[in-house]
Amino acid sequence: MTDIVVGNSDKLKPAVEEALKSAPTQHQRLLDWVREVAALTEPETIHWVDGSQEEWDRLTSELVDAGTFVRLNEDEFPNSFAAFSDPEDVARVEERTFICSSTREGAGPTNNWVDPEEMKATLTEKYRGCMRGRTLYVIPFVMGHLGAKDPKFGVELTDSAYVVCSMRIMATIGQDVLRTMEEKDAFFVEALHSVGAPLDEGQDDVAWPCNPDKYIVQFPEDRAIWSFGSGYGGNALLGKKCYALRIASAIAHDEGWLAEHMLILKVTDPQGETHYISAAFPSACGKTNFAMIEPTIEGWKAEMVGDDISWITFDDEGKPRVINPEAGLFGVAPGTGWTTNPNAMRGVAKGNTIFTNVALTDNGGVWWEGMTDEVPEHLIDWKGQDWTPDSGRPAAHPNSRFCTPIEQCDIVAPEYSDPDGVPLSAIVFGGRRKTTVPLVSESFDWNHGVFQGATLSSETTAAAKGQVGVVRRDPMAMLPFIGYNAGDYLQHWVDIAKKYGEENMPKIFYVNWFRRTPDGGFAWPGFGENSRVVKWIVERLQGTAGGKETPVGIVPNVEDLDLTGLDADPKDTEAALAVNVDEWKEELPGIDEWFEKLGDHVPAEVKEQRDALGARLDG
Ligand code: PEP
Ligand code: NA
Ligand code: MN
Repeated sequence: MTDIVVGNSDKLKPAVEEALKSAPTQHQRLLDWVREVAALTEPETIHWVDGSQEEWDRLTSELVDAGTFVRLNEDEFPNSFAAFSDPEDVARVEERTFICSSTREGAGPTNNWVDPEEMKATLTEKYRGCMRGRTLYVIPFVMGHLGAKDPKFGVELTDSAYVVCSMRIMATIGQDVLRTMEEKDAFFVEALHSVGAPLDEGQDDVAWPCNPDKYIVQFPEDRAIWSFGSGYGGNALLGKKCYALRIASAIAHDEGWLAEHMLILKVTDPQGETHYISAAFPSACGKTNFAMIEPTIEGWKAEMVGDDISWITFDDEGKPRVINPEAGLFGVAPGTGWTTNPNAMRGVAKGNTIFTNVALTDNGGVWWEGMTDEVPEHLIDWKGQDWTPDSGRPAAHPNSRFCTPIEQCDIVAPEYSDPDGVPLSAIVFGGRRKTTVPLVSESFDWNHGVFQGATLSSETTAAAKGQVGVVRRDPMAMLPFIGYNAGDYLQHWVDIAKKYGEENMPKIFYVNWFRRTPDGGFAWPGFGENSRVVKWIVERLQGTAGGKETPVGIVPNVEDLDLTGLDADPKDTEAALAVNVDEWKEELPGIDEWFEKLGDHVPAEVKEQRDALGARLDG
C-alpha cells in the first residue's frame, strides 16, 4: 500500500505486536504490508492462517458460537454448515465494482472507474479503524497448483472467519503456500478485505456483519484488490472473481495468455480419444449443469475439470493448455437437484460444505427450490422465518450457494490437479436466445470465433409471461470480469492467434440450447441431450462430421447430429438448427450499437467480421 496515508503504529494492540513478532514468515513485503494494514484498521489481534484441519475445526466452532454458522445434521451433511447473510448482502454488486486503472480509458466503457489515487484516499478513510474488536486473518493462497512453474500467489487480509473457511474450500491456502512464496521470494497479489463493521468496546456482534456502503475495487496495474463492506462470495472470496478473472485478465494481457469465465469439460469418445473443451456462458444458461453433463449417447463419457474459470496458457510449441485455478465449487443451489444434477448433489452430500442462504429442514438439513421433487412440509427459510409450501415466497434465496471441495465430485477428472493443465481442443460460447442463434455453429476461423464471442448475447429472463427477453451483450461471458478496456481485451484475443499461430488455436463453436419453435416450446431438450452437440463438436475436431456452410458459420444438417434414441420431433431439431437470414439481418443493428458502445478500441479484425457477416447475409 504505497502512496496512501497509513494508520498510526502506536495504535497497534499488544496482541497485534506479538503476532507480528512471532509471524511464521520472513517475507519482508508481506510483513510490512500486514503491519501497515493493522495500523490502519486497528484489529484486536492477528491470526496467521495455516490451513489446517484443527484451524477449520476451531473457526467453524467459533462461527457456530457467534451465530454465523448453523452446524448441520452430521449423518446427512457431515462437517457442514449453513450461513445466513444480511438480506442486503446476497450477491455480487456490479454497480459497486470498480476497475481503477491509472486512466479512465484503461478501464474502458464497460467498467466503473474512479481515479486510483482518489479511490485509495476514499477507501483509506473507510478502512481506518474498521477492524476494531475483530481479528485480522492473514490468508496466503495460490490460484492453480502450488507446484506450477509460475504459481499465482495472493494474500488475503480479512476480518471475516466465514471468508477464511470459504477460501479454504475454494483455493489452496495456508502454511505450505506461505513457505513456497517465501522460498521463491515470489510476487503476491495484495487482496485486502473488510466487512466494514468495527465493534466498539462491549458492543455485541451480529451474525453477518457488513456495511451498506460497499466497494469492490481492483487496481489492475498494482495487481491489488481492495474490498469493503460485503461478506458475500464474489465480493469477499477475493481469489475468485477479483483475482482469477479481473486481475488475472490484466496479467494475462501483459503475459500473453487468457483468463476466462469458462468451465472445462473432458470428453472421451467410444474409442477412448479425449478432448478438453472450455465453455463460456452468461449466468442462468446452465453452466454448472453443462460442466457436470451426463451424456445420453452410447459410449461417450464426460468429466469435469472446472465449473467457472479457465486459465489458458500456450506451451513452447504454441499449443494451448488450460487449468482450473480453483479448488472448490461455489454453485448456485436453486435448480441444482437430484434429477437435474445428481453429480453436484452427491458431491455436496459428502459434507465439508458451507451453504449460504439456503433453507433449513426440521431435522437439521438444508433444502432449496429444485433440490428434490417433493417439497418439505415445513422449513426455516433463509431469513429465519417459518416456511410452508403455502408461504408464497421462495424458501432459499435465488442466489443461495453451496461451497464444496471440487475433489468431492465423482466426475472430476483426475488430471484436474495436474499443474501443467490439459490440452485445450475447443472453446464454446453460449447464450440464451429464443430466436436467431442456431443450436450450434462452428466458426470459420479464429477471428470469426472472436467475433462470435465479442457479440455473445443472452436474453434476460422475462418476468411477465409472453414478454420478449431483453438481449444483453456479454463478450465471452466476461462483461463483469474484464479487468481492463473491453476493446483491448478483444484485441488481445485477436493478437493471441497472431502470436502463437492460428493453426495452434482451439476451434471455436457457438451454442444456444434455448431456441424456441414457432409454437413457443423449446426446440431442443437440452441437459444430457446436449451431449449430442458435444459429439458433433468432437467429430468436427476429428474431421469426421458433416456440416453446411451458412452465413453465420458451419451448422450441422439434421443428419449430421446423432439423434439415436432422442425423443424429439425432427421438425423441432430442424428449427433448432435453422439459420434465418431475416432474423440475422435484424441482429446487425444491435451488434453495431454494441460496437459503438465499446468504442474505438474494438479491433479492426473484429469490425471486418461484422462487415463480412453483413455481406454473407446479403449474398
Ligand atoms: C459469485 O457471485 O461469487 C459468483 C461465483 O458469481 P457467478 O455465479 O455469477 O459466476
Ligand atoms: Na483448499
Ligand atoms: Mn461465474
